[in-house]
Amino acid sequence: MKRTQLVTTADLKREEVDFFISEAESLRGKTTQDLKGKVVAALFFEPSTRTRLSFESAALRLGAGVISVADASTTSTKKGETLADTIRVFDKLADIIVMRQPTAGAADEAIKYTPKPLINGGDGANQHPSQALLDMYTIHRERGMIDGLTITFVGDLKFSRTVHSLIYILAQYKAKIIFVSPEELQIPREYIEILKKAGVAFEEMTDFAEAIKKSDILYMTRVQKERFETEADYLKHKGAYILTPTLVELGGKHIRVMHPLPRVDEIETGVDEMPQAAYFRQVENGLYMRMALLKNLSKNYYG
Ligand code: NCD
Repeated sequence: MKRTQLVTTADLKREEVDFFISEAESLRGKTTQDLKGKVVAALFFEPSTRTRLSFESAALRLGAGVISVADASTTSTKKGETLADTIRVFDKLADIIVMRQPTAGAADEAIKYTPKPLINGGDGANQHPSQALLDMYTIHRERGMIDGLTITFVGDLKFSRTVHSLIYILAQYKAKIIFVSPEELQIPREYIEILKKAGVAFEEMTDFAEAIKKSDILYMTRVQKERFETEADYLKHKGAYILTPTLVELGGKHIRVMHPLPRVDEIETGVDEMPQAAYFRQVENGLYMRMALLKNLSKNYYG
């Protein structure tokens, strides 16, 4: 059975990842009519700039029409409508659904109410599969391959769903993983178990500079303010790891800095003009990866 929905990276096979990377590359810079006559609904019930707008831009570049929710406060969710009913309604109004919800598991729930193509654009601290795919595409473009690289995740590894999604995929490659985070924000043990089971080498460190020296890819994350119980908890960790141009130099010419964005203060703006800074190229790659996803999930469902 060919894939029509993307809820998690847990069931995404390496062959599929490689396929989507090559599809994204072939759609680079193009506009097509693959989704002519289709309507894409972008239902974002949690703040988003890039993910929603890059899906919308991707849909438009494939010739689709777009309807969207950008602010939960303007929807019937405010009146008490359930997720089930929201999805049943958009199953009738749209041909393809992209959704973001603050609760983990929301997309798993949603697919009970629609058989149509659906993409999880983020469910709480759980998963963000399209981001993981565009991250893989970016690593591939920047370094030419993924096996053999040392990939270091830095910052809020507890709540960063983009990291969680990427771990499932990297578990199928021969990369080495380093985690750098404050103790309280360390990567949840379930992800360590996934890497152990897959036989992927990994290391947890607190020394940022030492980790940079060993890295090919430095994947920075924002401390996820909205997931903390109190402002004080957030402030305790904000600014734990800040990447400066001097630190980037420790990684040499070939290291690449990635970030799913938005950046708060974890990468100094002085890094932006360095050739090692890949985070704005990563945004562009995201557009083509989302075109690849919309096109192929739709093709697999509608023919
Ligand atoms: C990420 C997210 O929403 O999880 N952003 C994104 O989709 N590019 C990362 C974040 O919000 O920190």
